[in-house]
Amino acid sequence: MRILVTGSSGFIGNNIKDIIGQSSNDFIFVTSKDYNLELQDEFYSMINDIKPNKIIHLAAYSGGIKANRDFPADFYHRNLYMINNLFLALLKSKHKVEKTLITIGGCSYPDTSDILFEDNIWNGFPQIDSAPYSLAKKTAIIASYAFKKQYNINSQVVIPANVYGKYDNFDLDTSHVIPALVKKFIDNKNIIKIWGDGNPVRDFIYSEDLAKILIKIIYNDYNFDLLNISSGKGVSIKNVVKSLIQITNYNGKIEYDKSKPSGQSVKIFSNKEMLKLDLKLETDLFEGLKKTVIWFQKNYS
Ligand SMILES: NC(=O)c1ccc[n+]([C@@H]2O[C@H](COP(=O)([O-])OP(=O)(O)OC[C@H]3O[C@@H](n4cnc5c(N)ncnc54)[C@H](OP(=O)(O)O)[C@@H]3O)[C@@H](O)[C@H]2O)c1
Repeated sequence: MRILVTGSSGFIGNNIKDIIGQSSNDFIFVTSKDYNLELQDEFYSMINDIKPNKIIHLAAYSGGIKANRDFPADFYHRNLYMINNLFLALLKSKHKVEKTLITIGGCSYPDTSDILFEDNIWNGFPQIDSAPYSLAKKTAIIASYAFKKQYNINSQVVIPANVYGKYDNFDLDTSHVIPALVKKFIDNKNIIKIWGDGNPVRDFIYSEDLAKILIKIIYNDYNFDLLNISSGKGVSIKNVVKSLIQITNYNGKIEYDKSKPSGQSVKIFSNKEMLKLDLKLETDLFEGLKKTVIWFQKNYS
């Protein structure tokens, strides 16, 4: 079995690499230095050179909210090319791939506080700042449907909830909430300033759990077109802060800066379909935060 992982130098790709470790020779990991997947010819070459049986397609042009606001056209066209090139390469390459698994962002969902069910993915416009990115990635759902129907090309799309863990982006200017908090708790002893009121609720999943589920799905047959990978539970930023105080033995002050935007109030993804397929997350939030703090201290201090 040859399983090709694109975008393997990124956050999720590195977690898959760690889980696989020395235990399997099935995996081939590539990055943009091997093949620039915005170029159709390089996409063909990658498939024809490597001849994978299956692909986990993680490659994406991704970034934080500021980058999304500043460079919307780049986020749109670069991701659209990568999705389009993927499907044309699956169709036209001499080598035929049995199955492709594609990840897209939770920001592809409509901008609502309702629980996010897979069936509701098209029921509204996504959050405007990341819409050029999320809508470009979301074309994977319709491409997957169209290429299956017309050409019997087998692909599936998964939407992970808010992923956190080792190999995350800990740069305060561009990071998501948990890596930013972890860095602040490790770097500061007296005062920690937190953007917003701490009330937003998010659905967090630990990166290793996601990696294990992606590996399970690529090896086995699971019947779905689009699937959330989520805890199905909401946790407020304030509660994440409480856990980090305990984990890091922090004794300083916490200040919520209410003049800064808090973001969408609630974002929870249904995990009903995932549980029906007997796919489960292993790590609760406290344990995952502990592992992330330890990993960060080891790798950044
Ligand atoms: N992180 C999350 O919380 C999250 C949540 C839901 C869904 N997802 C989805 O999961 C996927 C992976 O996310 P991630 O957080 O691991 O992303 P990431 O850390 O930004 O990594 C992106 C990867 O894509 C590669 N890439 C970028 N442009 C490329 C190009 N032109 N050609 C080939 N490779 C290219 C990068 O390679 P180089 O390093 O060589 O440039 C890198 O390996 C994305 O599709 C994302 O939408 C992520």
